[in-house]
Amino acid sequence: MIAKTPPMGWNSWNTFGYDINETLIKEIADAMVAEGLKDLGYEYVVIDDCWSMRKRDAQGRLVPDPEKFPSGMKALSDYIHSKGLKFGIYSCAGSLTCQRFPGSLDHEFVDAKTFAEWGVDFLKYDYCYKPKDIDGRLLYRRMAMALRNCGRDILFSACNWGYDESHTWMRSAGAHMWRSTGDIQDNWESIKKIALSQLGKECYSGPYCYNDIDMLVVGMYNKGNVALGGCTDEEYKTHFSVWCFMNSPLMIGCDVRNMNEATKSILKNKELIAINQDPEGRQAYTVNSWHNSEVVHYIKPLANGDYGICSVNYSERRTWAHLEFWDIGLPTMAGYGLELRNLWTGENLGVQTESFASVLEPHACAVYRAKLVPVK
Ligand code: GAL
Repeated sequence: MIAKTPPMGWNSWNTFGYDINETLIKEIADAMVAEGLKDLGYEYVVIDDCWSMRKRDAQGRLVPDPEKFPSGMKALSDYIHSKGLKFGIYSCAGSLTCQRFPGSLDHEFVDAKTFAEWGVDFLKYDYCYKPKDIDGRLLYRRMAMALRNCGRDILFSACNWGYDESHTWMRSAGAHMWRSTGDIQDNWESIKKIALSQLGKECYSGPYCYNDIDMLVVGMYNKGNVALGGCTDEEYKTHFSVWCFMNSPLMIGCDVRNMNEATKSILKNKELIAINQDPEGRQAYTVNSWHNSEVVHYIKPLANGDYGICSVNYSERRTWAHLEFWDIGLPTMAGYGLELRNLWTGENLGVQTESFASVLEPHACAVYRAKLVPVK
């Protein structure tokens, strides 16, 4: 089954935009393996917009740009598969993609067949140039149907930015993940805006179809296509933690050929990835802190009975992050406490009862795995 847990991989858009070619994609695939990202679950290598010619061929098929992809998409997909990775590509529900390459409108079945022949495993499907008089849900249903019948398992990654109330219909249309936000930029304001815009959409995310709050900017440091300011390592940590707790697909957006140690330690945090990939597939709910309404606690029920707890300081001041266990269903009289392990520092904090508080710098987070234990 596709997307039992949130999909993981890499996508070309955040760093490379228009500037993509087969050598780059092969080097990225090599780095995914060499860096151990593949073994951690990052499996899809996705080419975003700008890979095709501006016109279809005489049979109405999409044609890869021969200057960027001289060996063609089948050869590239074979290479990616030979590394034990999966191959993703991009198209659009409208007549053109966002960068004005041909879209799949009225070519859904031929395009799905073409993608299957190329060995595609993942299709990101955008929403630009959609005719106003056609209901968007019909276009996603149509491509979902084409993919389901193309003879290959292809993950359907819908990208209509949460427009047209898509949370109410995208899952049933057949998507395995759906973009519930506009585009991310490499800066703190964008991360905060996206994260807070998702409060209330938690229950639309679950196994086989996840809310996608856009690709990661971790490790970009203001370089590349969506680089608009850059972030500190602390902000990247918070960004990654929130994406893990919100069950977002984890699609890396930086240049994995050149990651520094901080970037590696964030993207390769196994215990955080385990929170994201927990088989129960539940998105976290949120609780506000007493002392500062801009401190949000994310609480994620996990399959083995543990809970993930992520406290984020979205404010501009150093502050207490105070979690009352009452707010998560655990009053003192219940006779239980929570044994906390900090997933960024590895520190064991012992059994806490009633409440727990830590001090957080602006934009920082603290992440715990909590085990329910009886207290005498
Ligand atoms: C946007 C989409 C981005 C990227 C871009 C390519 O609509 O949200 O993630 O795919 O198009 O042009």
